[in-house]
Amino acid sequence: MLFPFTLVAALLAATLSAQEFPIAKPGCQDRCGNVTIPFPFGLTDDCCYDAEFLITCNHTFSPPKPFLSDSNIDFTEITLEGKLHLEQYIAKDCYDASGPTDSNTPSLTLSNFSISDADNIFVSIGCDTVASLYGNLEAAGSDGSEYEVGCTSLCNRLEYVPNDTCSGIGCCQTSLAKGVNYFYLTVTSQKNHSGILDFSPCSYAFIIEEKKFNFSRSDLWELQKIDSLPMVVDWSIGNNSCAEVKANTSACQGNSTCHDPHNGNGYLCRCLDGYRGNPYLSDGCLDIDECTDATVNHNCTHICTNTVGNYTCSCPKGYHGDGRKNSEGCNRRRSLVIQIAVGIGGCMVNQDNMRQVEEVANIARKCIKIRGEERPSMKEVAMELEGLRTSVKYPWTNDESNVEETEYLLGKSMEIVGFEKMAGTSAGYQSLQNYLMQSLGGGR
Ligand SMILES: *[C@@H]1O[C@H](CO)[C@@H](O)[C@H](O)[C@H]1NC(C)=O
Ligand SMILES: *[C@@H]1O[C@H](CO)[C@@H](O)[C@H](O)[C@H]1NC(C)=O
Ligand SMILES: *[C@@H]1O[C@H](CO)[C@@H](O)[C@H](O)[C@H]1NC(C)=O
Ligand SMILES: *[C@@H]1O[C@H](CO)[C@@H](O)[C@H](O)[C@H]1NC(C)=O
Ligand SMILES: *[C@@H]1O[C@H](CO)[C@@H](O)[C@H](O)[C@H]1NC(C)=O
Ligand SMILES: *[C@@H]1O[C@H](CO)[C@@H](O)[C@H](O)[C@H]1NC(C)=O
Ligand SMILES: *[C@@H]1O[C@H](CO)[C@@H](O)[C@H](O)[C@H]1NC(C)=O
Ligand SMILES: *[C@@H]1O[C@H](CO)[C@@H](O)[C@H](O)[C@H]1NC(C)=O
Ligand SMILES: *[C@@H]1O[C@H](CO)[C@@H](O)[C@H](O)[C@H]1NC(C)=O
Ligand SMILES: *[C@@H]1O[C@H](CO)[C@@H](O)[C@H](O)[C@H]1NC(C)=O
Ligand SMILES: *[C@@H]1O[C@H](CO)[C@@H](O)[C@H](O)[C@H]1NC(C)=O
Repeated sequence: MLFPFTLVAALLAATLSAQEFPIAKPGCQDRCGNVTIPFPFGLTDDCCYDAEFLITCNHTFSPPKPFLSDSNIDFTEITLEGKLHLEQYIAKDCYDASGPTDSNTPSLTLSNFSISDADNIFVSIGCDTVASLYGNLEAAGSDGSEYEVGCTSLCNRLEYVPNDTCSGIGCCQTSLAKGVNYFYLTVTSQKNHSGILDFSPCSYAFIIEEKKFNFSRSDLWELQKIDSLPMVVDWSIGNNSCAEVKANTSACQGNSTCHDPHNGNGYLCRCLDGYRGNPYLSDGCLDIDECTDATVNHNCTHICTNTVGNYTCSCPKGYHGDGRKNSEGCNRRRSLVIQIAVGIGGCMVNQDNMRQVEEVANIARKCIKIRGEERPSMKEVAMELEGLRTSVKYPWTNDESNVEETEYLLGKSMEIVGFEKMAGTSAGYQSLQNYLMQSLGGGR
C-alpha cells in the first residue's frame, strides 16, 4: 500500500540530471569533433580570450581535430582547472640482427603553456637504453635556461626485469622541473641491443601522465606498436599573477576567485564553493542546486532546501534534529500510537500498566476518528503506521533503531511526490486507517 510511493520517488530521482552550465561565449561554437572547447579557448578571434587561446578545428579529420592556434599540436581535452590533455609522440630506437631499423626524436614547442610537472614523468624503457630530455625553462632569463635530464636502463635477461616496478631494470623514470615549455627527446643504445634482440629490440623514451603509466615487462616488446602516449599541459591566462591583475575587472568574473597556477605564470579562475560553471565567462558561475543535482551528495537525511551558494537541511513535522547526516539527523517524536504499539506488540502489558494502556488506546481511537482540520496528515499516519509495523515485527527493539532507513525513504518520497495533495483522496486515507485499527486490535 505504502511502497509504490517509494518507487515513484526513485523514478523521479533518476530523471534529475546535472544542471547545464555555459561553456563558451554566447553565440560561439563549444566543440570541435569530440572535444569540448571552453572559454578562454575559442575557435575564432571573437570567441577566445586572446590569440594564445585560439583553436583551429581541422575538419579534414573524422571526427574533426582541434589544434592550438596554427601549430601542429592537437589535444584530446581541455579542463577548466587549467589542464590540456594531449597525445605526444614517443622516441624510439629499434634494431634487428642487421643493425638499426627505426628511430625518431620527437619534440614539442608550447610557446604559451608549460608541461605539467605535477602530472607527468619522464620514462625510458629498454634493456640497452640511454635516454635524454633536452628542453628549456620559460621562467628563466632572456636567453632561456637550458634543461637536460636523463634516464638509463640496462638488463641482459628478461627474468631480471621486475614485472611492475620502474626502477632502473628495463625501465627508468624521473620527475620534471616546473616551467618546461619546449623539449625534444633522444634515445640511443650502447651495444645495438645485441644479445637481447629477442625480448628488447628497441629503446623508448616519453613523457607520460603519471597516473596512466604502469610498467609491465611486456612493454619491452609491445611499445613497438604504440606511437603516442597521454601527456598533460598546464595552461593559464597571461603573464601576470592574481595580485598583478587584481585591479583589472576583466580578470575573474562574478561568483569566482583568482588563484595563481602551481606551474608557470599568469592566473587561473575558480568558481566559489557552492557554484559551478565557467569562471572565465561573465555570469559563468551559477549556484549549484545541491538538493536536486545528481552529481552532488547533499548531507540532508530528510528535507533539503537549496539556498544561493549553499543549502539547508530540515526535518519533517513530528521529527526533531538538524537533519544532517553524521550529525543529529531527524529523530521521531514518540507518539501515543507508537507507545501503545510497543506495549501491545511486545505483549509486555501487565497488571500494573493495563489500565494505562487501555486509556491511551481510547484516546488514540478518538484521535484517529477526528475529521477535517484536526485529522492527522497522510504522512503522519504513514509514519506512525510504519513505526507500529516495526514494533510488532520486532517487539524486543526500541522504535528508534530499525526504522531509520524506512523513515528516510518515507520522508523523502513524501516530499517529492507532494504527498499532501494525494492524501486528499479519501480512499488512501481510509485504507490506512483501517489497517491501523486492525493492527491495534480495535474495530469501529
Ligand atoms: C568521437 O566521436 C565519434 C562519432 O563522431 C565516436 O564514434 C567516437 O567513439 C568518439 N570518440 C571518443 C573518444 O569519444
Ligand atoms: C602562443 O600565443 C601567441 C599569441 O600570443 C600565438 O600567436 C601562438 O600561436 C601561440 N602558440 C601556440 C603554440 O599556441
Ligand atoms: C588539416 O590537416 C590536414 C592534414 O594534416 C592538412 O593538410 C591541412 O592543411 C589542415 N587544414 C588546416 C585548415 O589546417
Ligand atoms: C606480468 O604482468 C602481466 C600483465 O601486465 C601478466 O600478464 C604477466 O603474467 C606478469 N608476469 C609475471 C611473471 O608476473
Ligand atoms: C651498432 O651498429 C652500428 C651501425 O650498424 C655500428 O656502426 C656500430 O659499430 C654497432 N655498435 C656495436 C657496439 O655493435
Ligand atoms: C596500475 O596498477 C595499479 C595497481 O596494480 C592499478 O590499480 C591501476 O589501475 C593501474 N593503472 C593503469 C593505468 O593501468
Ligand atoms: C608573456 O611574456 C613573454 C616573454 O616575457 C612574451 O613573449 C609573451 O608574449 C607574453 N604573453 C602574453 C600573453 O602577454
Ligand atoms: C586588463 O585586461 C585587458 C583585457 O585583457 C587588457 O587589455 C589590459 O591591458 C589589462 N589591464 C591591466 C592593468 O592589466
Ligand atoms: C554551507 O552551510 C554549512 C552549514 O551552515 C556551512 O558549514 C558551510 O560552510 C556552508 N558552505 C558554504 C560554501 O558557504
Ligand atoms: C552569481 O550566482 C547567482 C546564482 O546562480 C546568479 O544569479 C548571478 O547571476 C551570478 N553572478 C554573476 C556575476 O555571475
Ligand atoms: C557532505 O559531508 C561530507 C563529509 O562530511 C563532505 O565531505 C561533503 O562535502 C558534504 N557535502 C556537501 C554538499 O556539503
